[in-house]
Amino acid sequence: MEPDVITVTGGRPLSGCVSLSGSKNGSLPVLAATLLMQGECLLEHLPNVADINVMGQILRSLGLRVSAISPDTWLVRNEGISSDTPPAELIKRMRGSFYVLGPLLARLGRANVSLPGGCYLGSRPVDYVLEVFQALGAESPVVGKEIRASAKRLVAGKVSLNPKYRSPGATFHAVMGSALAEGETTIENASQEPDVISFCQFLNRMGAKISGMGTATLKVQGVENLTGCPHRVPSDRIEGGTFLMAGCITRGEVTVQEIEPAALSTALDELEKAGVKVTRAPRSITVACPDRMSALDVTTSPEPGFPTDLQPPLVATLCTAKGASRVAETIFEDRLRYAHQLTRMGAKIEVEGTTAKIAGVESLRGASLQAENIRAGAALVLAALAAKGQSRISGRGHIVRGYEEVESKLALLGAQIAAA
Ligand code: UD1
Repeated sequence: MEPDVITVTGGRPLSGCVSLSGSKNGSLPVLAATLLMQGECLLEHLPNVADINVMGQILRSLGLRVSAISPDTWLVRNEGISSDTPPAELIKRMRGSFYVLGPLLARLGRANVSLPGGCYLGSRPVDYVLEVFQALGAESPVVGKEIRASAKRLVAGKVSLNPKYRSPGATFHAVMGSALAEGETTIENASQEPDVISFCQFLNRMGAKISGMGTATLKVQGVENLTGCPHRVPSDRIEGGTFLMAGCITRGEVTVQEIEPAALSTALDELEKAGVKVTRAPRSITVACPDRMSALDVTTSPEPGFPTDLQPPLVATLCTAKGASRVAETIFEDRLRYAHQLTRMGAKIEVEGTTAKIAGVESLRGASLQAENIRAGAALVLAALAAKGQSRISGRGHIVRGYEEVESKLALLGAQIAAA
């Protein structure tokens, strides 16, 4: 049994360099897209985290051969798909699992995929995804807890996503659904996240014809087939941002390696506004924060805005800033639920609707805490690293879904942390 508790003795400034794992959110669609191709893909820099291993099991259950050459490098071979129904118990374990829907529909003309699970952050409906497949000519009724989709052949269409969210998930679905469809699909209000750009580049190297990457409008000219090719997943920018904020909250100096600073530009700009010294090198970022940070006023929004996945680590970091901060969450309506746990550590946070008002305090104290999802768990770890005394964080299983070897990476930076 994996340990379910993380213990932290806080109060030490972190210092040093940390190598980032590959992006979890970028790897999931890449793995799903191997269903679209014929041949094999050598995939490098996959994070060795639970969600990626579940996706490997899903691909195997559908007939693909998945072999780990090393923990972060897999060879995926597709010589034919053997099933249109991935096991529901695997799909329910996360949100990214149901990316297999589009590839199964494109290759087999049908797919029965359970509604996905994942972190509770709010209602997380799938209506945009169903609209995407409707626009591509599929029938996709929800029967009980399953999407039963079918289409003789997917055809190009106009997909217009909600501009408020520019959903990365719905963008991945739309790109995978249209890559083999007949004709040219336009995807409006597409996500501009780095993971989406890298994903589209991977598909183009397999033979897809996607243009407009990095803008809000993608065009996908359907092709007859895709052929496997190697791909290296970019570093996880959310892991990177989390470690940088760990440096800030502990008043230390931390470098994250193997990442282009542009991938985190909005977050880095905010840290600079708070008085953090940020050094951007071509492939690394360093933060130094010897004194208390200043307060900030931040609103999450789709790329290029402040990433919602860094909202919990940011709120933790601002708990000990000088003055009153305000952090507004606009993507997930229930994403501030963890904040009351920080108040048990001495933080002064008031949550009104989807906004947190934080009155910075001098210091936090250790406590017994419960992680309820990946990023909220990361926020608790950060607060514990800065707090005086010991903290005990249960729900480690949530945290390690998104952070590979979190304890050993933080220990290398000088943290007193262990899985128990
Ligand atoms: C992905 C990321 C998650 C990140 C989020 C936003 C993965 C596996 N997860 O989640 O870490 O926090 O992007 O950057 O990559 N929505 C609908 N209907 C839909 C789809 C989405 O209303 O059919 C809404 C959601 O409720 C939410 C917003 O759109 O308010 C963004 O959701 P979405 O982009 O789908 O996020 P995920 O793909 O679930």
